[in-house]
Amino acid sequence: MDIDESFIQSIEHRPKSTTVEVEGIPVIDLSALNSQDLVVQVGDACKNWGFFQVINHWVPSNCREKVELASRAFFQQPSSEKRKVRRDEANPMGFYDTEHTKNVRDWKQVFDFTVENPTVVPASHEPDDVELQEIVSQWPEYPPNFREACEEYAREIEKLAYKLLELISLSLGLPAEKFNGFFKNQTSFMRLNYYPICPIPHLALGVGRHKDSGALTVLAQDDVGGLEVKRKSDGEWVQVRPTPNAYIINVGDVIQVWSNDKYESVEHRVMVNSERERFSIPFFFNPSHKVMVEPLKELTSKQNPARYKPYNWGKFHTTRNISNFKKLNVENIQIYHFRI
Ligand code: OGA
Ligand code: NI
Repeated sequence: MDIDESFIQSIEHRPKSTTVEVEGIPVIDLSALNSQDLVVQVGDACKNWGFFQVINHWVPSNCREKVELASRAFFQQPSSEKRKVRRDEANPMGFYDTEHTKNVRDWKQVFDFTVENPTVVPASHEPDDVELQEIVSQWPEYPPNFREACEEYAREIEKLAYKLLELISLSLGLPAEKFNGFFKNQTSFMRLNYYPICPIPHLALGVGRHKDSGALTVLAQDDVGGLEVKRKSDGEWVQVRPTPNAYIINVGDVIQVWSNDKYESVEHRVMVNSERERFSIPFFFNPSHKVMVEPLKELTSKQNPARYKPYNWGKFHTTRNISNFKKLNVENIQIYHFRI
């Protein structure tokens, strides 16, 4: 067996061969509750887990099926075809199979596209460079309905993301639309993940342990399983069991900072296996590049002063992107670098 050693996780970060049966992340039914109960459930889930699943969410199931089929059709093509829409230094959107998380290569292939077209971001990560860049998604020719399936699905998930954002805002005691303005000219993107069968699932990970750096992630996973969440109460890695047609929601670093650590962004990772390939589709709900991310005034006080210095979302994201693109010998940028 000839495996590129860049995939190999250090011993302490390798997956465990046995999984403990433990309490899983909360499941929230978005239709069954009156709005006050819903706000309380969302608030508790954000505080205690940073992760939850939603069911009865109004995203049409045929829209999800269509994008799932399109994703399978795209990834089953030979690499030479997929590379025609390859991501490069100029365009961060498209196909990509050498992503690194914390400088270890992930056992996966991805296809990224923006939610807003074009999406405006800083042209470079250099703090003093004010030049901007417009990003436009690249679309493959095959399968023929790929673009339509992706764009329709993105619109539906965006609606769900706004609804969740409003529930989170209410749960923090803020007006429902408090955060909405930050997402005008959003830098959100959608990712199709493909985790091929892996001959060394005990040594590699589909995605190494990480926290999502944006505001909120809305993830669709298939029935294979493999996502693990680091449980806050005891640091145990807990499996997120696939629930048909549900979405997995997690709080990202931006909400952690806005809430001044009331809602923490939680570490997660993806295991791969030697029998079944796996597909998932995260939507990364990200603010405008212009937003200076800092604890909200309403959520800080003399007794609870701001724990972070403001940082610019666009520069942060551009800096992080470079380190996911290339293997670097330095730790990548993290929100704790802005801790006061
Ligand atoms: C991610 C991620 C989880 C999954 O892409 O950031 O955590 O199940 N994905 O694919
Ligand atoms: Ni993630």
